[in-house]
Amino acid sequence: MAGKIPRDFIDDLLSRTDVVDIVDSRVKLKKAGKNYQACCPFHNEKSPSFTVSQEKQFYHCFGCGAHGNAISFLMEFDRLEFVEAIEELAKLYGLEVPREKGHLPVVSEEKKQQQQDDYSLMEQVVRFFQHQLKQNENSGKAIDYLKSRGLSGDIVKQWEIGYAPDSWDALLKTFGKDQARVKQLIDLKLVNQNDQGRRYDFFRDRIMFPIRDKRGRVVGFGGRVLEDGGPKYLNSPETRIFHKGSELFGFYQARQQNRQLDAVLIVEGYMDVVALSQFGINQATAALGTATTAEHMQMLVRATPHIVCCYDGDRAGREAAWRALENALPALKDGVRLSFLFLPDGEDPDTMVRKIGKDAFMEMLDNAMPLSRFFFENQLKTHKVGTPEGKIALRKAAMPLIESVQGDDQKQMLLEELAKHTGEYDRFKLQQDISKANHASSKPAYSANRNQVGKARLSPLRMLIRLLLDSPSLATRCDDVQPSVFEGSDATGMDLLLDIHRYCAQYPQATTAQLVENFRNHPHSSTIAKLLLQEHLVKDEDAERVYSDSFARLLDWHFDSRIETLISRSRVQPLTQVEKEELNLLMKERQKS
Ligand code: UTP
Ligand code: MN
Repeated sequence: MAGKIPRDFIDDLLSRTDVVDIVDSRVKLKKAGKNYQACCPFHNEKSPSFTVSQEKQFYHCFGCGAHGNAISFLMEFDRLEFVEAIEELAKLYGLEVPREKGHLPVVSEEKKQQQQDDYSLMEQVVRFFQHQLKQNENSGKAIDYLKSRGLSGDIVKQWEIGYAPDSWDALLKTFGKDQARVKQLIDLKLVNQNDQGRRYDFFRDRIMFPIRDKRGRVVGFGGRVLEDGGPKYLNSPETRIFHKGSELFGFYQARQQNRQLDAVLIVEGYMDVVALSQFGINQATAALGTATTAEHMQMLVRATPHIVCCYDGDRAGREAAWRALENALPALKDGVRLSFLFLPDGEDPDTMVRKIGKDAFMEMLDNAMPLSRFFFENQLKTHKVGTPEGKIALRKAAMPLIESVQGDDQKQMLLEELAKHTGEYDRFKLQQDISKANHASSKPAYSANRNQVGKARLSPLRMLIRLLLDSPSLATRCDDVQPSVFEGSDATGMDLLLDIHRYCAQYPQATTAQLVENFRNHPHSSTIAKLLLQEHLVKDEDAERVYSDSFARLLDWHFDSRIETLISRSRVQPLTQVEKEELNLLMKERQKS
C-alpha cells in the first residue's frame, strides 16, 4: 500500500482547481445567477436541479442529493477511486502526487509492474479460453452445450465465454514459458501445484466465465462442468488480484451498458446474468458463489437508486435474501430502494426470463416485495405478536437491525411499521406529533424548502454548522460566536460543531470544498453530508446575523438544560458550593435574556 497523500497537497490541488471547469468538461453547464446548472448526471431528470457553486467549489443536486467537490465529482462521474481522482487532477497541472513516508510501505514500481503483468496475463488467458471454444477438439461438445442452454453466439462473444480444454497442461504449456511465468500462473491460481510438486491446469473441461472487476480488469474465472452431477462450478480462489467479497459478476458490464442504472438486480448465478442480458436486461449482477456482502451493497447503493435482490422462493432462497438484507441495511441510504423478488419454486432468472420474456420479467421487478414487507414477514414468522411476550421479542430482534439503517427516512419508516406490529402505533404517532410540534414552535423559520432532500428544519446547532460549511470565514468574521464555551457538553452534534469551528477559525479562507475534504474521514462526515443537503435559504447578507442568533439560541438552550440538571440534582443531594455559584450565575444570565 502506498503512503498517504499529504493533506497540504490535496488542499493545494483543490485551490488550483475550478470545480466548474471539471464538471463543465463532462456535463455542459449553464450559468444561472451566481451558480451554474445542468441536468444531473447522477440521476434521470428533465429539468436541471444539479447546481455547481464556483464560490464554494461545490456541486449539489437537489433531486438526488449527489454533492461534493472536484475530487468527489471525478470519483462519481469517472468512477475513480479517491487516489485515482487525485492523480487525475494532479495530471491536469503537471504535478507529481507526493506520498508521506509513514509506516505504510510505498507501492514499489516493481509491485505496480507485477499488477499490470497479472492483469495482462489474465486477459491473454481469456483469449486462450475463447480460442479453445472455437479450435479445441472438444469444441463441438462445448458449443453444443452452450446452445442447449439457449445462448446465442453473440451473447457468448459478448460475455467472452470460453472453454478450458480437457487436458492437464494445455494452459501451463501455452503460458508457462519460464519459471517466473509458471510461478505467476500458480499465484493467480490458474495452475495448481500438488504436494509432490506436480503442476497441472486448475480449470479443465469447463465452460469459462471471465470475471471483471469494477474497472474492467479480469481478476478471476468461474468454470462450469458440461455434465451435471457433482459440483457444477469451480471458481478462482482468492489471489492477490481477486477478492470475492468485493467483486460482482456483471457489474462492470452493467455500468458500461447504462450511463444511469435505474435498477440493479442481484441474482445468484453467472448463467442468470448472461441469460438476462440475452433478453435485453443488462442490469443484473451476481455474487461469486458467496453471500451478498456489505461491500457489495456499498458498491450498489453508489451506483443505483433501486436494488432488487432476486432469489428462489424456497427456504434457502429466503435465507440468502435475509442475509443480503442484513448486509444491506447499514449501506441503505435514503433515496435507495431495496426490494426482493422471489421466483416460483424451481425457477431461476435464467429459466424464468426464457419462459415469460423480458416485459413480463420487468413487470415482476416492478412488483418486487418492498424491504419493509420482507423484513416484517420474515420477523413475524419467528415472533408471534399475538402475545405481549411475542411483541417484546419482535421489538428486541428488530430494533438492532432498524438502528443499523443508514438513511433516517428509511429508519423512520421501519420504526413506524414496527410500532404497528407491537401495538404501539398510537404512541409512536403521538411522539412524532410532539416532536413535529416542538420543531414548528421553535422560533424563526429560516428554513423553507423546495426540494425532496432536506425537509427537516435546522436546529440552532445544525444551523451553525451549516453556515460554517457554506462560509468558513464566519468563524473569524463573527468572533462573538465562540462555541468553545460548550466544550464538555454531550449534546448531539456538539463535537462536530467544535471541530468545524476550530478548523474554520484556523483556515478562514478555505472553500466549502476544502473544508469538506478535510472532514472526508471524520467520524461525522455523514452528518456533514446530510447538512449540506438541507437548503436553508439564508441569504448571504443575513448569514452573519443568523449565525449570531443561532449561537445565542444555542447558549440559551445550553443554560436552560444546565439549570435543569442542577435543579434536579439539588432535589436528590445538596449542591456543592461551586455548583450553587454556577446555578446563581446561570439564573442571572437567564433573567437578562
Ligand atoms: P446456481 O446453481 O444457481 O448456478 O448457483 P447457475 O448459474 O444457475 O448455474 P446453471 O444454470 O445450473 O448453469 C449459483 C452460483 O453459485 C455458485 C456459482 O457462482 C453459481 O453461479 N456455485 C454454484 C458454485 O460456486 N459452485 C457450485 O457448485 C454451484
Ligand atoms: Mn441456473
